[in-house]
Amino acid sequence: MFSFDPYSPAVDSDPFPFYRTLRDEYPCFWSSEANMWVLSRYADLMAALGNWQTYSSARGNLMDELPNRAGATLGTTDPPRHDRLRALIQHAFTKRNLDTLADPIRAMVRALIDNLRGAQQFDFVGDFSSKVTAKILFRMLGLPEGDDQIVRERAVLMVQSDAKTRQKGPEHIAAYNWMTDYAAKIIAERRKNPGDDLLSQFFVAEIDGERLAEREVLLTTTTLIMAGVESLGGFTVMFALNLADFADARRELVANPALIPDAIEESLRYNTSGQRFRRCLTKDVALHGQTMQAGDFVCMAYGSGNRDERQFPNPDVYDIRRKPRGHLGFGGGVHACLASMVARMAVRIIFEEFLQAFPDFSRVQQQLPWMPSTTFRSPMRLDFAIN
Ligand code: HEM
Repeated sequence: MFSFDPYSPAVDSDPFPFYRTLRDEYPCFWSSEANMWVLSRYADLMAALGNWQTYSSARGNLMDELPNRAGATLGTTDPPRHDRLRALIQHAFTKRNLDTLADPIRAMVRALIDNLRGAQQFDFVGDFSSKVTAKILFRMLGLPEGDDQIVRERAVLMVQSDAKTRQKGPEHIAAYNWMTDYAAKIIAERRKNPGDDLLSQFFVAEIDGERLAEREVLLTTTTLIMAGVESLGGFTVMFALNLADFADARRELVANPALIPDAIEESLRYNTSGQRFRRCLTKDVALHGQTMQAGDFVCMAYGSGNRDERQFPNPDVYDIRRKPRGHLGFGGGVHACLASMVARMAVRIIFEEFLQAFPDFSRVQQQLPWMPSTTFRSPMRLDFAIN
C-alpha cells in the first residue's frame, strides 16, 4: 500500500521515487500522514497556481504552518490584500536596488572564502554557505550586522518539524517566538530612528490610506527574514551538492563561468530547497477521479512538478544546458518568489567566487544529515574534500 509521509526521514532524504509513483499512479493523492491532498504533476500544479481563488493561501502556505502567520503576510493572504502588501515591498527588489548590492555581496563572499583558503576539508554549510547567505540577507534588509548567525540558527529551526509527533515541537515554536520578538525589537528601533532601508519604509506604508496592522508589520518582517535566510541558504547548499555530484558540469562552469546562471536554473528545477508548499480549497474540486472538498488542504509538490517527464524530457538528468523555462523552483502565479532576482544574483556571485577559489572538490559523506522539514529540503552539513 503506497503512502506519502512528508514527515518521514525517507522523504527528507530522497523524495523523488515517491514523487514518481504519485505522478504516475496517484496524481491526486490523499496523504493521511500529512492530512492533505498531494498534487504532483506539473500541469496540475500550474493550473492550481493560476487559480488562487480556489487554491487559497489565506490559511498558510508552509506545509506545517506556524502560529498566527495565516492571513497576516505575503505567503498567507489572497488578493487583493496580498497584492497590495506585495506592492509595498516589491520596489525594494527592483533591478536598480539590486545593482547596488552586487559589490558588497562579492566583498562578503571573498572575505569568507579567504578564511577557508588552504583547508583540505570543510563543512560547506557551517563554514561557508550559512554564514555568507545570512550576511547577504542582512545587508539586503538592512538588519544589524552581528545578529546574522543567531538569526540564521533560529530561522533554520523554525522551519523544521518533529518526525515522531508529526507537528512542530517545542524547540521549533520557541525559535519562532524568538524570531517574532527579534522582529518586534527591530521594528521598535526603526520606528525611533527610521532610515531609508526597506523595513523602515515598510512600517510607515499605508494601503488605501489605511496603516498596516501591527500584526502584518510584525509577521511580514518575520517572514522576510525566515524566507530569505532559509531559502537562500538552503538553495545555495543544494546547488553546491549538485556541483559536487556532477563533476563534468562543475568543470564546465569552472572553464566558463558565464554558464553559472543556466546551471542555477537547472538546479532550481532538479532539486530545489523549497520542495512543497500548501494551499487550502475554497470549494470542491474534482480531479483525476477524486473529489477534494472545500476546506481541505493541498500539498503543492513543486519538487515533483520539476521532475515531471510530461513537461521536462529526461527529468532525472542534471543538464546545465537545459534552460528549463517555467520550472517551479520559485513557485508561480501571484505568490511566485518576490526575491527571485536578488536570489539569482546572490547565488551567481557566490559560485563565481567559490569555483574560482575551489575548482575541484568532492563530498566526504555518502549519507547526508537531511533537515527534518516538510516544506524545505537541504542537508544540515555537507563536508567537502578539496582536491
Ligand atoms: C534561491 C533562493 C530562494 C528560493 C528557491 C525561493 C523559493 C520560493 C518559493 C518556491 C516561493 C513560493 C511559495 C508558495 O508557493 O507558497 C517563494 C515565495 C516567497 N519568497 Fe522566496 N525563495 C528564495 C529566496 C528568497 C529570499 C532571499 C527572500 C527574501 C528576502 C524570499 C522571500 C519570499 C517571500 C516573501 C515569498 C512569498 C511571496 C508571496 O506570497 O507573494 N525568497 N520563494
